[in-house]
Amino acid sequence: MAVTFETRYLTDFVRDHELQAMQAQVTAAHEMLHAGSGLGNDFLGWLTLPTDYDKEEFARIQAAAERIKNDTDVFIVIGIGGSYLGARAVIEFLKSPLYNNLKKDTPDVYFAGKSISASELSELLSLCEGRRVSVNVISKSGTTTEPAIAFRVFREYLENTVGVEEARRRIYVTTDKAKGTLKGLADREGYETFVVPDDVGGRFSVLTAVGLLPIAVAGCDIAALMAGAAKAQNALCETDLTKNDCYKYAAMRNILLRKGRAVELMVSYEPRYAMMSEWWKQLYGESEGKDGKGLFPASVIFSTDLHSLGQFVQDGSDILAETVVVIDESPVTMTIKEDAENVDGLNFLAGRTMAQINQKAFEGTILAHTDGGTPNMVLHVPSVCEEELGYLVYFFEKACAISGYMLGVNPFNQPGVEEYKKNMFALLGKPGYEDQKAVLEQRLGK
Ligand code: PA5
Repeated sequence: MAVTFETRYLTDFVRDHELQAMQAQVTAAHEMLHAGSGLGNDFLGWLTLPTDYDKEEFARIQAAAERIKNDTDVFIVIGIGGSYLGARAVIEFLKSPLYNNLKKDTPDVYFAGKSISASELSELLSLCEGRRVSVNVISKSGTTTEPAIAFRVFREYLENTVGVEEARRRIYVTTDKAKGTLKGLADREGYETFVVPDDVGGRFSVLTAVGLLPIAVAGCDIAALMAGAAKAQNALCETDLTKNDCYKYAAMRNILLRKGRAVELMVSYEPRYAMMSEWWKQLYGESEGKDGKGLFPASVIFSTDLHSLGQFVQDGSDILAETVVVIDESPVTMTIKEDAENVDGLNFLAGRTMAQINQKAFEGTILAHTDGGTPNMVLHVPSVCEEELGYLVYFFEKACAISGYMLGVNPFNQPGVEEYKKNMFALLGKPGYEDQKAVLEQRLGK
């Protein structure tokens, strides 16, 4: 079994020949990607990563995770963007969004350095009190402000609570193999380090140490995750659109964009998928949103958001295309019981599982939304397990690359992310930004 793409609910919106007409562009995108001749071709390490990864480092990640499981109650993972989202998404999908609150024999995993919020940071510090803490700071550049601030705080916390020597044992650094402030600090202090490969961008890095160490600490089987991704790497090479669901998804979203859809709304009926959608939003938003182009990636959890955004999706302006991720096999079976009095009138559901009811919610909604004029794509994920998730991660990464090349952008850079950073540094008085500071302050009326 593997992830499959269903187009049944697109028939009123996209005709067969429109998909066929995309074949030449898909083939060109595939060839560019596999020949390494397209834009951003120095960031293609993710393409073969599931089979071509550093096995020695992988074993060190597994060993470190075992050590952390034994000597740690709270594992603080510090990072932002691509250095944060993948790990959290995988842990919440495979374990639970309530992972930290559930009974388990693995450490709590909390994420820091993903905002500049003093309250978030101080709350995390208070959660650590009286507990055994280890820290994994993750930054490819080693200079990103948010994680740098959080690491300064947690490093000081560890040194003050367990001493400098023990802190050194409890700090794990994931960064560039040779350069950057963080690498320099790690070398100086003797922290155990893991590498973000040069040719893998942040948002494509979940299957490197960036994602794998926190995921392994949470008790997920990272070998199975990689095996699922390797299966996708082998399966998703066929150029024929009709035989490659990954390329079909890439082509369909491009067709829908060209037909005037502005937003791709990722939908799931499982709350455990919410952070996967956040990961997907970064992957597609940063890869395609440039040069005035791209579908805006947004997400909802149904049926929760049917009670808030459902009205807009059903009947609002015609800007949306939905992509529904259906998890075919629910990880938990819960059956509605018969009630002798039936005061709530729910006996018509007695004997049915929650998964069956959720399925009917999906079926009823997709028919209503397509009737309302919103095209719907469907991705089926067979079950909640490492193999299927590894496959899905690779599926989305490859579809993103193909889709970005079809769109005519460089899917592997993120020049727009730098703009706010430059302004922020200037306004904070970072050395080297003096000229911009004066100009910006004048615009702000200061
Ligand atoms: O995808 C990206 O490149 C970004 O989201 C980065 O991951 C993010 O800005 C964090 O960068 P770094 O890992 O260098 O701290």
